[in-house]
Amino acid sequence: MTAQTEKRFKPWDDETAQQIAADNRDRPGALMPILTELLEDFGYINPEFVPHLADLLNLSRAEVHGVISFYHDFRTTPPGETVVKLCRAEACQAMGGAKLAEHAKQMLGVDFHGTTADGRYSLEQVFCLGNCACAPAVMLGETLYGRVTPERFDTVLKKHKGAA
Ligand code: FES
Repeated sequence: MTAQTEKRFKPWDDETAQQIAADNRDRPGALMPILTELLEDFGYINPEFVPHLADLLNLSRAEVHGVISFYHDFRTTPPGETVVKLCRAEACQAMGGAKLAEHAKQMLGVDFHGTTADGRYSLEQVFCLGNCACAPAVMLGETLYGRVTPERFDTVLKKHKGAA
């Protein structure tokens, strides 16, 4: 387990977003690096920014929307304070990943891509956290956990809530 450090995202800011887009517009395949940088800064892509991005890169809005909706990571709503990432790839699935996913959804009261009503947690599915030997794997904020049974998930979540 690594030290608990949580990434805090900035609130969406058009000026910064425009600067990120302008700084990257001349790169080959500029859309992906721009979206990635927006995600790193704000934790999501504001859908209202799509027309600006499309104009800047000379793409249609549908093309930009298509890329955003294709990649799971490109969320379009602000994430909760902590993102819970559940691995849904093969090794984790073989070790009870599906049961864990159902449990996590129930515990948090949200589906994948959802955020709890209090804004504390977002639940995301990912496809391999590089921790296959300790499947099933979960990431809570920046901390990676292995061999996460539903019971262990509850313990980790409870501890995290208590630490906030
Ligand atoms: S398959 Fe889950 S961590 Fe690799």
